[in-house]
Amino acid sequence: MGVEVSVEGLTKSFGSQNIWRDVSLTLPSGEVSALLGPSGTGKSVFLKTLIGLLHPEQGSVVIDGTDITKCSAKELYEIRKLFGVLFQDGALFGSMSLYDNIAFPLREHTKKKEAEIRNIVMEKIDLVGLAGAEDKLPGEISGGMRKRAGLARALVLDPQIILCDEPDSGLDPVRTAYISQLLIDINAQIDATILIVTHNINIARTIPDNIGMLFRKELVMFGPREQLLTSEQPVVKQFLSGDRFGPIGMSEEKDESVAAAEAAMQAAGISGGGTKDDFTEIIAQVQPNPGMPERKAVARHRERVHEILHTLPPNAQEAIRRSMAEEDRLRAENRAHAETHVAANVGEWSTVGQGGVALADSRTADSKTDVIDFGGNDAPTQQWATPADVTQEISGDTPGHEGRTT
Ligand SMILES: Nc1ncnc2c1ncn2[C@@H]1O[C@H](COP(=O)(O)OP(=O)(O)OP(=O)(O)O)[C@@H](O)[C@H]1O
Ligand SMILES: [Mg+2]
Repeated sequence: MGVEVSVEGLTKSFGSQNIWRDVSLTLPSGEVSALLGPSGTGKSVFLKTLIGLLHPEQGSVVIDGTDITKCSAKELYEIRKLFGVLFQDGALFGSMSLYDNIAFPLREHTKKKEAEIRNIVMEKIDLVGLAGAEDKLPGEISGGMRKRAGLARALVLDPQIILCDEPDSGLDPVRTAYISQLLIDINAQIDATILIVTHNINIARTIPDNIGMLFRKELVMFGPREQLLTSEQPVVKQFLSGDRFGPIGMSEEKDESVAAAEAAMQAAGISGGGTKDDFTEIIAQVQPNPGMPERKAVARHRERVHEILHTLPPNAQEAIRRSMAEEDRLRAENRAHAETHVAANVGEWSTVGQGGVALADSRTADSKTDVIDFGGNDAPTQQWATPADVTQEISGDTPGHEGRTT
């Protein structure tokens, strides 16, 4: 079972610049959570604090009984083995092939033989659709491919906690859907606790069990996804719709005169550019692919949510009840589909046995490959190296940043 991450009263500053203060939340074991927030609100800083790469001045981060803000370097090293982290910039070693980058945690943290390492690395490379690109350097592949290589590296230790900083950035919408599905399938397979930092509202609507949002140095909320999606808070509504009118400005703060001018523009029918989508209309959560086990966290999430339901706003309660009913319906449908599919294939296999008719649909024979087949090495190979990418090191920190490397 995935490991719970419990954050209490966390405050982080760089010199005199406070990033966020008094952040408390729990990433429940095995559940998928998302963290939203305008650029620069400290989402990446939060993620790096969770693995002890950055050090808060106050508060605790308790993982498996250890407060990593106060433990020894040796204890931290052990705790880090529980994590798989996809940094925002991929943070690949620029001078190493993708293969060596992905093999790195296995060589660093395990005593596995090269043959075994090879099997694991090639499996993960396949999983993220990078087969054939393993010998390339990070500077020779597209941004989206680098992101997927970073994800493959995050997965090689079968982590119990997976942190993904904008897994979708640099990916087209279809690859984003595949990566999201991959995360759900991995969650179903290994029950890992997952935190996804994202600006992608579609991911926020369909993937996590819980959503939180950072704004103006505080955690605005953290709870079941329906709570944020049905929130009446102007900052949440503005963020979801992507409208320029609202409390979030280009540089975060908006004064009263700007707010009044915006209200006048809105009253005059001028568009703030946002979508008119109704986010309170909860979209069904993405389910594991057929052939995958059910997500164990679903039952635990429900139990937890039932306990806190009465504390949530009425519209969130109503939305939770509706989405649970819809999820039950979908799961039953998926189960029925899987059973029919297996039965059909058994029939087809027996036909092969009897008379040599080819298997019409081999998808359940290898559902894993089916789920994540991106069609291989898909992006045009860049012939030049981007210095920033080439010099990027695994810590994910830019020069001058504090922190230890994993
Ligand atoms: N190592 C560091 N040293 C000093 N300041 C830092 C460091 N890391 C981040 N910051 C500052 O902390 C603030 C939050 O940065 P962070 O990268 O966490 O934002 P973010 O929410 O992830 O933004 P985005 O959505 O653009 O990725 C920024 O003002 C940034 O300049
Ligand atoms: Mg960031």
